[in-house]
Amino acid sequence: MYERLCVTLIIIASVCTLCRSQRSFGIDFDRNTFVKDGKPFQYVSGSVHMYRMPRAYWADRLQRMWTAGLNAIQTYVFWDQHELVEGVYNFEDNNDLVAFIQLAQKIGFVVILRVGPYGCGEHEFGGFPWWLLRDLNNLEFRQMNTAYLKAVTRWMSVLLPQIRPLLYNNGGSVISVQVENEYGSYPACDHNYMGYLRDMFRQYLGDNLVLFTVDGNGLGYLRCGTVKGAYATIDFGPGTNVNESFNYQRQYAPHGPLVNTEFYPGWLDLWGHQHSTVSTESIVKTLDEMLSIGVNVNFYMFFGGTNFGFTSGADPGYIPQPTSYDYDAPISEPGDITSKYMAIRNVIGKYLPLPSTPVPGNNTKKAYGSVRLSFKQSLLSYITSHSPFCTTSSYPKRFEELGQNQAFVIYSTILNNTEVQGKVLDLSGVRDRAYVLLGEKSIGIAYRANSSSLKLTIQAPGNRETHLNIIVENMGRLNYGGDLFDTKGFVNNITLDGQVLVNWTMCISGSLFDEAPTDFTMNKFEDFDPNAPNIYTGNFSVTDQAPSDTFLLPTTISNSYWEKGVAYINRYNLGRYWPILGPQVTLYIPSPWLLPSTTNSLTMIELQSSPCGNEQTCSIELVDFPILDKPTLMPAPLLYKRKPQYH
Ligand SMILES: *[C@@H]1O[C@H](CO)[C@@H](O)[C@H](O)[C@H]1NC(C)=O
Ligand SMILES: *[C@@H]1O[C@H](CO)[C@@H](O)[C@H](O)[C@H]1NC(C)=O
Ligand SMILES: *[C@@H]1O[C@H](CO)[C@@H](O)[C@H](O)[C@H]1NC(C)=O
Ligand SMILES: *[C@@H]1O[C@H](CO)[C@@H](O)[C@H](O)[C@H]1NC(C)=O
Ligand SMILES: *[C@@H]1O[C@H](CO)[C@@H](O)[C@H](O)[C@H]1NC(C)=O
Ligand SMILES: *[C@@H]1O[C@H](CO)[C@@H](O)[C@H](O)[C@H]1NC(C)=O
Ligand SMILES: *[C@@H]1O[C@H](CO)[C@@H](O)[C@H](O)[C@H]1NC(C)=O
Repeated sequence: MYERLCVTLIIIASVCTLCRSQRSFGIDFDRNTFVKDGKPFQYVSGSVHMYRMPRAYWADRLQRMWTAGLNAIQTYVFWDQHELVEGVYNFEDNNDLVAFIQLAQKIGFVVILRVGPYGCGEHEFGGFPWWLLRDLNNLEFRQMNTAYLKAVTRWMSVLLPQIRPLLYNNGGSVISVQVENEYGSYPACDHNYMGYLRDMFRQYLGDNLVLFTVDGNGLGYLRCGTVKGAYATIDFGPGTNVNESFNYQRQYAPHGPLVNTEFYPGWLDLWGHQHSTVSTESIVKTLDEMLSIGVNVNFYMFFGGTNFGFTSGADPGYIPQPTSYDYDAPISEPGDITSKYMAIRNVIGKYLPLPSTPVPGNNTKKAYGSVRLSFKQSLLSYITSHSPFCTTSSYPKRFEELGQNQAFVIYSTILNNTEVQGKVLDLSGVRDRAYVLLGEKSIGIAYRANSSSLKLTIQAPGNRETHLNIIVENMGRLNYGGDLFDTKGFVNNITLDGQVLVNWTMCISGSLFDEAPTDFTMNKFEDFDPNAPNIYTGNFSVTDQAPSDTFLLPTTISNSYWEKGVAYINRYNLGRYWPILGPQVTLYIPSPWLLPSTTNSLTMIELQSSPCGNEQTCSIELVDFPILDKPTLMPAPLLYKRKPQYH
């Protein structure tokens, strides 16, 4: 199965016996091991994603991973982050992949790279760019499909040439590159597609590189997820039968190293579901079992971080993922060294030399206290007055058709009859959440994941208002599952008592909310409705020259909650909050985003109901601790059981 790799290896091995200083990485199929610079090599690796922390913290988090005893990091490249606009590429700032990989190398790591094109990872659309959904005709994902492969091929022609000089054998740190991602869990099972990707990766990265695949520990996954010429690995979490799992890998990789590419020291969260935790005892036990038989292991995640901005995804059944990606990982969201971290480090120390650098202390956190906020403008009037693009059509259009990725689109129409009391507005096609207004007055909320909210009986006695305004919120696209066609806006017509409503005006929010909205035009305060979507801002002063991390607790001094929305510190988008649902309550504010010794600003887009009442001013709290585990109605997501049994 691996003739080509074998031949490559023999060449590397023989070159290296002659020239010991030459960098080389490969697989020794006779000795069932990786070989680095001619010597057997076992990796203990941790997943970390550069997008999920401010760049100013890259070195801090990687250093913490290093002192844990890890010798490798594993990371995803999320395509959507780099090609937000089709054909326009961004590798700057927090997207500087080359700098991130070089930093890891400088610290001492080798790097395992997962370039997709699909990535999963609880990230918006699994890392696919939204514009793939603009034209749905003849589109299929993750298979031999012309429209899809055209976009993939162009992206890879930009990405992969940047990776080539970073390969271990070329003097860099990248020891292996993954082809696709858990492809065996996707129903298409298109072997030609996997072959196409493998050949493209070889074309750009050369033959002298370990390509690999990863799949669940079951033959069905491996049958569809593996491809000749890429080394087959598996993934599983603590408490799994190690020997049995690797027997599956051995069916597809009869010789070579044993590899668990995703070993779960924590697990993902979902809005409305109990916070996930994984016990240290179970991690330590399974880890010890694996390391004792020479398994190469990667912790997914070792540091999770944060889904800042609009980067969180959703799971099948449409269950969106929260902003925190703490993941109950060994290094917590603000970078804390947990007892789980220390226990893992102790086990690693039994098998590999630990670095002499001491484990760093936790970073300081500070409670900056209560911040007074005041009403600035209703969201409806803000979008209407700042929208980069409005258009009309008989029937509502989808976000992607309108050129909108995240945030909001306003759908408006004029009702030809003001007698709407008791009529039923059918919003069944909404993706994902609709804030419905008659004029500027809120009359209800429809949410795709709540079937009883989709037919809204209008309670507006005596209302003479004929403008129906619907603010639709994208809450993150599906990151996983067999159906990736998660377009936003409306996928069906909107009806009133069975009559199709026509003549829609649609105003997109464009990139207005990527960073904190500014430039408010005065709303008449008498129009203020605390139960409609509104924007609030407030200032507070930071007196320290070196600010500390802090957490936004969306409650007032009198303990009433802000309900649901998006929050910003200065210009930075902290992500979505939904504390009345949980389990996440606080939002992490990294210190690099605070301005030292001066005034800082907070902005809240509250979509449901602010706790201000009719006061027009109220407050939020900045505290020195996170709350990620508020009790919820639904049980925690099943650990490691997400992969469906398609085959
Ligand atoms: C699992 O255990 C059996 C029996 O000891 C052994 O033959 C087999 O090689 C083991 N599998 C792996 C992958 O180590
Ligand atoms: C660091 O933070 C973790 C998690 O919050 C805590 O368990 C640990 O005790 C802290 N370490 C120190 C030295 O304070
Ligand atoms: C679902 O929608 C109904 C009708 O709007 C509402 O009363 C209920 O609270 C919603 N359920 C959840 C779990 O949000
Ligand atoms: C909306 O209704 C019109 C007229 O009945 C119909 O032509 C159109 O296909 C409908 N759109 C959707 C998405 O159902
Ligand atoms: C407008 O009103 C007329 C009669 O009053 C009715 O037949 C028609 O269906 C209405 N159209 C819509 C879109 O509500
Ligand atoms: C829709 O708009 C067109 C053009 O403005 C108008 O002729 C038509 O009567 C409108 N239809 C309804 C149902 O309002
Ligand atoms: C916050 O401060 C900025 C400048 O420091 C000022 O322009 C703005 O008006 C202030 N906002 C509030 C709500 O006080």
